[in-house]
Amino acid sequence: MSLVNQISLRTTMSYRVLFVCLGNICRSPAAEIVFNAAIARAGLKGRIKADSCGTASYHTGEKPDRRMLAALERAGYAWGGHRARTFSHRDFAQFDLIIPQDESNKEDILALASREEDAAKVRPMSTWFAPGEREREVPDPYYGGPAGFDAVVQLLERAMERLVAELQEKC
Ligand code: 4NP
Repeated sequence: MSLVNQISLRTTMSYRVLFVCLGNICRSPAAEIVFNAAIARAGLKGRIKADSCGTASYHTGEKPDRRMLAALERAGYAWGGHRARTFSHRDFAQFDLIIPQDESNKEDILALASREEDAAKVRPMSTWFAPGEREREVPDPYYGGPAGFDAVVQLLERAMERLVAELQEKC
């Protein structure tokens, strides 16, 4: 591809980011919502597209968990209508950056990567945790109380600032 074509491809195509958790009803839809708000604030809307999915299919087609939506609402975010879907190996071709929320999600995604360049797109959410962050991954809030959901939103907000700062250089 010529340099001119490469440059026009860069300016016309969005950079695509996929957030992944287990069920796609708690952490990854929250990550997508928090990320979309952060890229809008950074003036990157239109240059970056986000989506989310889960490694397991038991909640496919469902709305996000009502406890997650309540925590997002408490933090000032609105749900955009996302329905849960399952990660597929085809997502490697569709996305530039694939962000598992925990180590187990990461292992499940990497097990489906058949090429080195696919595996290279997978970077856990913890990549953007600040050095002093207590958590090592985004903890699964599903079996806990409301405080766990609020803590996930706050952890995602802190990490998202760092992720968006990195993307600002790239996009
Ligand atoms: P998520 O949370 O992976 O953050 O969407 C979960 C959702 C459902 C289950 C576990 C975690 N579940 O066991 O059904």
